Amino acid sequence: MMSKLSNLKRLTAPDVFARKNAQPIVMLTVYTARMAQLLDHHCDVLLVGDSLAQVVYGYDSTLPATLEMMIAHGQAVVRGSKKALVVVDLPFGSYEESIEQAFRSASMLIDKTGAGAIKLEGGQAMAPTIEFLTKRGIPVMAHVGLTPQAVNVLGGYSVRGRGNSEFSSILDDAKAVSEAGAFSVVTEAILESLADSITDTIVCPTIGIGASARCDGQVLVVDDMLGMFEKNAKFVRRFDNLAHRIDQAADAYARSVRERIFPASNNCYN
Ligand code: KIV
Repeated sequence: MMSKLSNLKRLTAPDVFARKNAQPIVMLTVYTARMAQLLDHHCDVLLVGDSLAQVVYGYDSTLPATLEMMIAHGQAVVRGSKKALVVVDLPFGSYEESIEQAFRSASMLIDKTGAGAIKLEGGQAMAPTIEFLTKRGIPVMAHVGLTPQAVNVLGGYSVRGRGNSEFSSILDDAKAVSEAGAFSVVTEAILESLADSITDTIVCPTIGIGASARCDGQVLVVDDMLGMFEKNAKFVRRFDNLAHRIDQAADAYARSVRERIFPASNNCYN
């Protein structure tokens, strides 16, 4: 009985932390209950990313994501999954002001969704917040390198870590968040050599997106991986072309309606 129960147990932040230099961590973003059901047994971590502002709501950056959006989609993903660790992003403006503000927002996300951890963006400046949260029962996944919430400061979404001073400042960011207690760190759009230095230096697992195959895990935005968009960053690989298949299915449906082929008699109540 005990072993059956433990087979069904959800992954926890300490389980993910223990995957340093071990089996690669598989992580995808997910925003809805049905997609969570489909991805749960393939993934170790399901990230309710603030990228939902772009992917689900059609904004041109992650900045308009709100705590209310993250709670609603976090609840859906927790309902749709049983096995993976669910991590929910703290949206822009909900944690940067003070450690108290961060605790209020993070505890609300955990309480209202049932997620197992939160993610926040930032390096050395966020280390005191990460320490405050982890010491008070909130597991934190950190995010360094290209941090999309800082797009207006960075001036765009280009690769980071070129030049000695940026290289060492991002390495210092990763060391600071790991030493502050983050159970894992997303490293986004950085030079491969920088990603490898981070993975070799810090004690917690690195999860790369546009980083290196040597990271302790990988993450992609699920809609990018499924081929839902025409344009993608260089670091995306499309494992399907769903946009094309949806177009074909919608075309077949529209023709069937116009030609009165659908509904057929087996779709009707006789
Ligand atoms: O919001 C998001 O989708 C993310 C991933 C890119 C890691 O933070």
